[in-house]
Amino acid sequence: MELRWTAVEEAVRRAHAEGDEPLCAYLYDLPALAAHARELRRSLPGPFGLFYAAKANAERPLLQTLAGVVDGFEASSRGELEWLRSNFASTPLILSGPGKTDAELATACRLGVELLHVESLGELRRLALIASSLGRRVPVLLRLNFPLGPGHETSLVMGGRPTPFGIELDQLPGVMDFLGGQESIQVKGLHFHLLSHQLDADRHLGLLEEYLRRFTELRAHYRADWSHLNVGGGIGINYRAPESQFDLARFSEGLGRLAGRFEAAGVSARFELGRYVTAPCGYYAVEVLDLKRCFGETFVVCRGGTHHFRTPQAQGHSHPFRVVPIDEWRYPFARPSVEGARVNVVGQLCTPKDVLAREAPVERVRVGDVLLFPYAGAYAWNISHQHFLMHAPPRQLFLHSEEAAC
Ligand SMILES: Cc1ncc(COP(=O)(O)O)c(C=O)c1O
Repeated sequence: MELRWTAVEEAVRRAHAEGDEPLCAYLYDLPALAAHARELRRSLPGPFGLFYAAKANAERPLLQTLAGVVDGFEASSRGELEWLRSNFASTPLILSGPGKTDAELATACRLGVELLHVESLGELRRLALIASSLGRRVPVLLRLNFPLGPGHETSLVMGGRPTPFGIELDQLPGVMDFLGGQESIQVKGLHFHLLSHQLDADRHLGLLEEYLRRFTELRAHYRADWSHLNVGGGIGINYRAPESQFDLARFSEGLGRLAGRFEAAGVSARFELGRYVTAPCGYYAVEVLDLKRCFGETFVVCRGGTHHFRTPQAQGHSHPFRVVPIDEWRYPFARPSVEGARVNVVGQLCTPKDVLAREAPVERVRVGDVLLFPYAGAYAWNISHQHFLMHAPPRQLFLHSEEAAC
């Protein structure tokens, strides 16, 4: 997961030179995305498949880059499902997520999703009626929520505690009773997505072992013929210490050791990863508009902010960045500059919460330089409150090769 800083910085300079407004842009390094996705796919042995969770970022060029590499896409709404199907006529799709409407369930039936992940008995009842009225038999995984053993806490946990996600184990008997007479539903297995932001390869392997144990116990208990286990997404990005990321090589080695146990149990497993796939290919670039001192602190005010890039606010971190020096200076007065300082990087919103980085050390930053935030390819632009204050949106630039961004 190497970041191609040189190519991206060159693209930033080109974009800056082309524009007549202060630069504000997302840049996506598509060759890097392709290389990362291929490495990730190669790292998953035999029984492990890889779907991409499109909610992380569903920009068409990213999906096109991934389409030949991953085994399919996961959608969590009718909008995502229709977008994915309109762009990829035959790529396998999953529909998951809480609060599915009848229209979403019907769309999934009509589009022939490969699997539909069911979140509750109520949803299952509605699906059975809809599928039956359409004359379909829908392949389903049941999403479960159950307590996890110690050591599985991350900063974002969806299971093992009260959340709206999945079916708790004590409700499973009722679900299985209901399924007894349902021709329109075919349960093929279980879906567990109990946490995100996993940064530790060994812990993630431990989680998978626990998932397999839980799956086989439940399958035996219910004498079910399930063969599919979706182990969710959840591999994280270390925004706080970007030099120490999830150890994919170690994870792959461990998966190699676990693969035999999945195979012996007749379980084909599937990841549906989002953040880890696309975060590293995206960058948010903002030009510095102003430098200010206030009550002893330095503020770098940029063209943009959390209405474009909510990730640091959403995750509660100070986002790492690089300064891309821009030598052009168009005003007839001295260029404001700060050297060897700690700075707060803020945007254009009228709220003190519009902070991208806090107390960040910089060697030098000047008005007119560009700040480049890496790891902005997932849950970034698409989770931001884009219309607040009606500032112009960032440009969306796709780097296809080292020479060109368009
Ligand atoms: C059901 C489900 N699967 C997969 C994902 C992707 O998770 P991540 O981006 O952490 O890999 C999510 C994220 O919320 C999810 O809810």
